[in-house]
Amino acid sequence: MGRMEPIRAETRTDDAVIVTEALTKVYPTGVRAVDALDLRVREGEIFGLLGPNGAGKTTTVGMLTTRVIPTSGRALLAGVDVVAHPSRAKRLIGVVSQTNTLDRSLTVRENLYFHGRYFGLGVRQSRVVADRLLEVFRLADRANADVGTLSGGMAQRLMVARSIVHRPRILFLDEPTSGLDPQSRIAMWEILQEIHADGQTVFLTTHYMEEADRLCERVAIMDHGRILALDTPDSLKRTGGGDIVLRMVADGDRDRLAQAMRDLPGITDARVLDGAVHLTASGGEGLLPRALAHAEAAGFAVRDLSVDVPTLETVFINLTGKELRE
Ligand SMILES: Nc1ncnc2c1ncn2[C@@H]1O[C@H](COP(=O)(O)OP(=O)(O)O)[C@@H](O)[C@H]1O
Ligand SMILES: [Mg+2]
Repeated sequence: MGRMEPIRAETRTDDAVIVTEALTKVYPTGVRAVDALDLRVREGEIFGLLGPNGAGKTTTVGMLTTRVIPTSGRALLAGVDVVAHPSRAKRLIGVVSQTNTLDRSLTVRENLYFHGRYFGLGVRQSRVVADRLLEVFRLADRANADVGTLSGGMAQRLMVARSIVHRPRILFLDEPTSGLDPQSRIAMWEILQEIHADGQTVFLTTHYMEEADRLCERVAIMDHGRILALDTPDSLKRTGGGDIVLRMVADGDRDRLAQAMRDLPGITDARVLDGAVHLTASGGEGLLPRALAHAEAAGFAVRDLSVDVPTLETVFINLTGKELRE
């Protein structure tokens, strides 16, 4: 005897435009790619999912963009359940996937024009929008070229341009600068900042901690399908990375050195990475001489010592014991 639930396409989600509740994907192989994900992304926010290869970023974006069916849990876009109402959800979003999905049988301009037509823009309007985006994305001089002739950076710009032709409320980008040269990466960051300044919600994934740090208002650090930390980049670095990071190289048993360094007041984390001992500390005053003296008192001759400020990489190391970069 089931009570009849009213069928609603939209659910109230306060100011959150992306909401996931225990969102989970277990592939038929048994891999739990995304494990009970709870996220709330605010309207107008630029939000980053940062994690290494295999963390579950693409699977998360896949579920949010209706391409991967969740095993359990829910995902709502502007209150629309993506599983129950995929076509409604699709009209709210623009997607830039990790692979080149440009239509190679069309020119650069046609890739934009036909996308607009597909999303219901009229002939004239679709032409106007396509030409304006070609200008904005500095592709106007390649308008009639085959997309196969574009450089990686140009193709990526065209994919972003295409994803916003229909003015979607939420833009998803899966590793938008992966494989780009440094100059194209910076150009892409500028584009994404402009899109964000226009008030659009941007959800991006990346394995570049610098990208997450520079671009995103809030960052979720993901590994093995789970969110390990979620905050503004500055807060993450303050709480998860200490004030200062020391890299100490010494002869002898490095695990024992790490162990010994943990006793030094101010040291919040010590671990062996890449043959060196990485120390995270707060209260940097006089730390260097104290760290040296402490290591020597423990019987180690320090051969090298470098100092750095914490990065999201440090935060990741402290959370997982491994480096973000493989
Ligand atoms: N279609 C699939 N079938 C089975 N396993 C998959 C599939 N896609 C991804 N995986 C696995 O799920 C995990 C997360 O993958 P993915 O979401 O692509 O992570 P990321 O984008 O962070 O690299 C990985 O272990 C990956 O091997
Ligand atoms: Mg991926």
